[in-house]
Amino acid sequence: MTADELIPPSPSEEAYSADEDQGEVFTDDDPVALFSDWLALAKTTEPNDPNAMALATVDADGLPDVRMVLLKDVDAAGLTFYTNTESAKGEQLAANSKAAICFHWKTIRRQVRFRGAVAPVSDEAADAYFKTRARSARIGAWASAQSRPMAGKLALAKEVAIKAAQFGLGEVPRPPHWSGYRIVPTQIEFWVNRPFRLHDRLQFKRKNAQSEWTTEKLYP
Ligand SMILES: Cc1cc2nc3c(=O)[nH]c(=O)nc-3n(C[C@H](O)[C@H](O)[C@H](O)COP(=O)(O)O)c2cc1C
Repeated sequence: MTADELIPPSPSEEAYSADEDQGEVFTDDDPVALFSDWLALAKTTEPNDPNAMALATVDADGLPDVRMVLLKDVDAAGLTFYTNTESAKGEQLAANSKAAICFHWKTIRRQVRFRGAVAPVSDEAADAYFKTRARSARIGAWASAQSRPMAGKLALAKEVAIKAAQFGLGEVPRPPHWSGYRIVPTQIEFWVNRPFRLHDRLQFKRKNAQSEWTTEKLYP
């Protein structure tokens, strides 16, 4: 298939006219409450992983990197995800503790972006979340040297078997190389699709985690 066949064409005048206008969607002055409202809606419409977000970090050469991770907590303190701290993203965050994240919910045609500094979560918080994971997923966290080269599927299966035998029927504690990070946003932008690409954008900004948010509408 050619790119022309693969990529959908720009919508026609008629298609745009049939686009749903979602009305007023910026229903809260507090960005965390607004994000929570949007996520709650996405949870009812997305086929899977409404909490999936693209996480962008920067490597030692200043080259951006991006991958999906799952949001595991959100409150006024920030947005938390969990991973292998020795992975590419872990190494990048150790060298440059800043990140951007982006949610896009296709079913409701909305996007939310966050930028800010990243800090590790406490050991207690990481332990508490790790405990909620399925036992096999906990063993997997021990077995996977995430982002490092792997000889083949068999190598992973072998590591899983070794760790499973090691822990036997006992408790599977959190590995030292597995924890969470919290992005403390200083910029949050809400975007909603509108007909004819005249989308609505609302940006929240603050100087630091202690200061008040200011808002601005942005051209689409
Ligand atoms: C929907 C989705 C959710 C994911 N969630 C996580 C996650 O929460 N934590 C994680 O370490 N990797 C997650 N991954 C895998 C990452 O995208 C990535 O492959 C992995 O973390 C290695 O990334 P890195 O080499 O940049 O560190 C997810 C992938 C997808 C597609």
